[in-house]
Amino acid sequence: MKNLIGDVSSAARILPDLNGEKLFINKGKGAYLWDDQGRKYIDTALGFGAILLGHSNEVVNNAVIEALGDSAAPSWAHVREHSAATALAMHTGELSRVIFTNSGSEAVHLACRAARAYTGRSKIAKMAAGFDGWFDDVSYGNVTSKEANFADGDRPSTARTTLLRFNDFDDVERIFAEDDNIAAVILEPMLANAGCIMALPGYLKHVQDVAHKHGALVICDEVLMGFRLHPGLAGLQAGLDPDLASVGKAIGNGVPVSAIVGKPHVLAAFEEGRVLRGGTFSGNPMACAAVMATLAQLDTADYTALIKKGDGLRDAITSTFASHGIKITTTGYGSVFSIWLGDVAPMTYEQAQKIANPDFSKQLHLALREYGVLLMPSPYGRLYISFDHSNIVIEEMKFAFEKAASKLSKIFSNA
Ligand SMILES: Cc1ncc(COP(=O)(O)O)c(C=O)c1O
Repeated sequence: MKNLIGDVSSAARILPDLNGEKLFINKGKGAYLWDDQGRKYIDTALGFGAILLGHSNEVVNNAVIEALGDSAAPSWAHVREHSAATALAMHTGELSRVIFTNSGSEAVHLACRAARAYTGRSKIAKMAAGFDGWFDDVSYGNVTSKEANFADGDRPSTARTTLLRFNDFDDVERIFAEDDNIAAVILEPMLANAGCIMALPGYLKHVQDVAHKHGALVICDEVLMGFRLHPGLAGLQAGLDPDLASVGKAIGNGVPVSAIVGKPHVLAAFEEGRVLRGGTFSGNPMACAAVMATLAQLDTADYTALIKKGDGLRDAITSTFASHGIKITTTGYGSVFSIWLGDVAPMTYEQAQKIANPDFSKQLHLALREYGVLLMPSPYGRLYISFDHSNIVIEEMKFAFEKAASKLSKIFSNA
């Protein structure tokens, strides 16, 4: 009997079978993964964005092994936790106070609790079709849910969550005119999990300013984008002034760790014991060791070169498909982007839904898998590259895309 539900513990990992076979990964190193049959793949899912330095980074692994040897769960305050918090806070500007958690979902959950406690209000406004984790409050209105697309005057809301339409400037004014019980707005630098829909110029700042004018806090959900564009928060790089941010994924290079960072006055209630923070594993020694070992390497990493390399790959993929009679476009940044069939880059979720072609994304996944590249199989999925995606790896990827485009040209020609 099969005991594991659906072969995987997170639905995000579900993949179609290829030639009747399921994929089970055995190990990874750098840009590559190997399956249980010994087949080698270039990975572009990279722990859904957690692996920025490449799989199985030796410096991170050694630091984690050392911490594990010192006790996985010492219960009490331990020697690595302050140092890890300081290492993180060196990158987060005025968001100088830190609480460690274990997953991105947990961090967002705690950030929402902090905002509710600070403002005395109950509701969290999140972007419709945005993904801010799988916990009840914020999984409402996720991409592909029926609530994610709504008409004016028909805003989906619960007692704890309300939805905003991404890139709609007027909707921000409307939501605060309708509702005076909003504790915080959760902002993502781009709507990454809806296929890297980019924020329109001035949109994020507009949301922030309206939220602040109405006494609500701004939470930047940087679980996916934090440390991906530079060693720090994408929101700060974009000139935002959030009150809180959630980080995860890339800060531990795949080792489970996340955190909230916040302005001191916003997080004071935790320090004073008025609001609960908990977690047997929160701030555990392995997580702290991973954060320090990862951030030290990201500090000297060449982000400009990484993003340029990824942008070159995006151009190459687009031209390859065009040469096979298939128009595609990409959205996002060099180190994280989505591929759309057709030449329209969606600016709203409504557009994205119209353009999304699940069959194309699935067939592209299957074709690339055959040629040794692992890509997320959904139109809303993303292609990530890491610092270990060398020029050689990028050339191998271009070759696989060329083969895949040739195969798909028989079905999806649209030029
Ligand atoms: C923007 C964003 N927030 C939160 C989460 C939840 O993080 P986790 O899967 O670590 O719980 C994710 C995960 O993909 C994410 O992309």
